Amino acid sequence: MTRFPERFVWGVATSAYQIEGATREDGRGESIWDRFARKPGAVLDASNGDVACDHFHKFREDIELMRWLGLSAYRFSIAWPRIVPQASGRAEPRGLAFYDRLVDALLEAGIEPVPTLHHWDLPQALEDAGGWPVRSTALAFADYVELVSKALGDRVRRWITHNEPWCLSTLGYARGLHAPGRKEPRAALAAAHHLLLSHGLAAAVLRANHADEVGISLNLCPVVAASDSVADRDEARRIDGTLNRFYLDPLFGRGYPADVLAESGPFPELLPGDLEIIAAPLDFLGVNYYMRSVARSQRISEASNAPRTVALAPEWTEMGWEVYPQGLYDLLLHVHRQWAPRKLYVTENGASYGDAPGDDGRVRDERRVRFLREHFDAAARAIADGVPLDGYFVWSLLDNFEWERGYTQRFGIVWVDYESQQRIPKDSAAFYRDVIRSSRYSRA
Ligand code: FCB
Repeated sequence: MTRFPERFVWGVATSAYQIEGATREDGRGESIWDRFARKPGAVLDASNGDVACDHFHKFREDIELMRWLGLSAYRFSIAWPRIVPQASGRAEPRGLAFYDRLVDALLEAGIEPVPTLHHWDLPQALEDAGGWPVRSTALAFADYVELVSKALGDRVRRWITHNEPWCLSTLGYARGLHAPGRKEPRAALAAAHHLLLSHGLAAAVLRANHADEVGISLNLCPVVAASDSVADRDEARRIDGTLNRFYLDPLFGRGYPADVLAESGPFPELLPGDLEIIAAPLDFLGVNYYMRSVARSQRISEASNAPRTVALAPEWTEMGWEVYPQGLYDLLLHVHRQWAPRKLYVTENGASYGDAPGDDGRVRDERRVRFLREHFDAAARAIADGVPLDGYFVWSLLDNFEWERGYTQRFGIVWVDYESQQRIPKDSAAFYRDVIRSSRYSRA
């Protein structure tokens, strides 16, 4: 196994709606995912997050698993509708109390809590008032962040504002595949802008409440053209623009990329001063990496395009995602060279494989072990080549509710039996535990 720096942060990541359950407990309000999941046809197996992994009740047991793994940090998300359930904007003390207990229990176990403040579960009351396409949602986010960071800021050092704004704006507001299920490309652009704006507003609030480090997690892909044709190269530029540069450029003070704006049309929600707010200094960038993007133009026919020169890797996960560890190396180097974040964390990386317990109860998920080993190697090579990568959060601790695919996909290093809520660490969990242990005792 490749060596990692001694103080490297080893973690796992989860999100509230995907694991907590208890959606009606302790005054929690409705989120857009509660509403969306009930729409016929929205979720593949017609399931929802009502119970999920019941982590709301089983968090102490789950922290025991984390302690056994030897984790140094846990990235979880805070459910906004637990804290601000209704349109009134009033705080729900019982919601805050849950995260208070969680943070204390983590610290007691010697595990650093790294909360994400928003992982797609917008309060439905705010969606009813217009959702992310309206500016008032960004202001409401800053108010919510004030409540949370006042309550937890004495114990939490590192905060992540948003998870993957591209997914929420594009899948949620343009394509209708995620909550809130809207198909309004213009509104999606406004949503993306307000997500970024609210990140900047929240960063100021977090600093005022003593945060040591503030970051954001983006889903990023290295993009390669499938061939040398003009059409494929232009497609690669377009995908890189909407997926990567549209978020990275403004966060790093360069404004929105001109080529994306030229193609997306007018953008009235961008007000004077917004770009300065968005470009608030970042202490770290969170990179969520799952796969690369191989750009093939749909604008010309396959017959008139050049033959593909990029061969796809032979392995795919059960999400239908290409297994391509080299992409993590390429991405980290690219981001480091182009935008030079002070520090990076891989805040998500993992794979969906459905391997179930055998007759002896053991889950032999060799493909996940291999997937993780190869991605860890790619990360170690990036560090050796100068990338200031300080930590790695595996997605995910537990099998969980995988959004529009429901419970049909299993990303956990720990198996969850949804009937009994029993947890079984898979072989990949034992592997991860060994990686963490040996890296603690090695010198880079
Ligand atoms: C990411 C999400 C995360 C999980 C993984 C598989 O896009 O942030 O919640 O669903 O994909």
